[in-house]
Amino acid sequence: MSKPKVFVTRIIRDQGLDLVKDFCEVDLWPDELPPPRPALLERARGVDGLLTLLTDRVDDELLDAAGAQLKVVSNHAVGVDNVDIAACTRRGIPVGNTPGILTDATADFAFALLLAAARRVVEADAYVRQGRWKTWGPSILLGADVAGATLGIIGYGRIGRAVAQRAAGFNMRILVNDPNPIPEAEQNRVQAVDLDALLRQSDFISLHTPLTPETRGLIGADELAKMKPSAILINTARGPVVDQQALYEALKARRIAAAALDVTDPEPLPLDSPLLALDNLMIAPHIASASYASRDRMAYLAAQNLIAGLKGERLPHCVNPEVYG
Ligand code: DGY
Repeated sequence: MSKPKVFVTRIIRDQGLDLVKDFCEVDLWPDELPPPRPALLERARGVDGLLTLLTDRVDDELLDAAGAQLKVVSNHAVGVDNVDIAACTRRGIPVGNTPGILTDATADFAFALLLAAARRVVEADAYVRQGRWKTWGPSILLGADVAGATLGIIGYGRIGRAVAQRAAGFNMRILVNDPNPIPEAEQNRVQAVDLDALLRQSDFISLHTPLTPETRGLIGADELAKMKPSAILINTARGPVVDQQALYEALKARRIAAAALDVTDPEPLPLDSPLLALDNLMIAPHIASASYASRDRMAYLAAQNLIAGLKGERLPHCVNPEVYG
């Protein structure tokens, strides 16, 4: 019997790729950069399954190009803002994602950014390399205390909770803002507050919302204006959750102290972005989930979702279960 045909839009870790290769006839995009749109549309034509990354837009155009035989879209990410879920659902195509397994890696990285921004680790490294370290000095590179400070977590899902666990170890006061009520059992550890109170009271604000029409631009000029002048903003969620122009202006005018971004809008951030000229901005290239074990597990789960969809079985992690009626 012939194997199902799939297009895998980037080389993923062997833990997933080997599984896909065992079960499918694989067309693998070999480059470091994502397939350009025309290539994506062309290579999707006639396949039974697509294994996509967050850099691939999955929409009506792509689904039409693939054709009516397409059985499954497996996205190698927990976020699915690159996928038009409604378009997949209309065609009865289940969409898989990779939740849970990257929670700790992402929370670790959010906390790494928090600590590094508070204690100016990147600036300190540059200070030494640039030969500016002449002596020990009482006022050199002073930063903010993390222990005992107030952390505001916007978006209290799996990753927000994992960040709160880390913050508890630093004796932080933890405020959270989320549309869902906080279970009673957690109310002794975190305090649910409205967005206004969180913005005004927090020393550090960490974003953990998915990107949806409601969260796009959630942190804009008004929200930045409510933050303390000493506040540090951390974004490991999605770039468009923050109005980047407003953030630039707030950082430049020192209306907030600093920001640490793992995600930007667009990605990659162009080298001439004015943000990159700021010394109170720390930036990373969307690597919060980039631990060996997390990426191995993401590849494996993306492969499992893909194969389940090809077999007509329920995906282990499906974001549109309504396709199963
Ligand atoms: C995701 O999975 O959504 C992250 O942004 C990349 O790991």
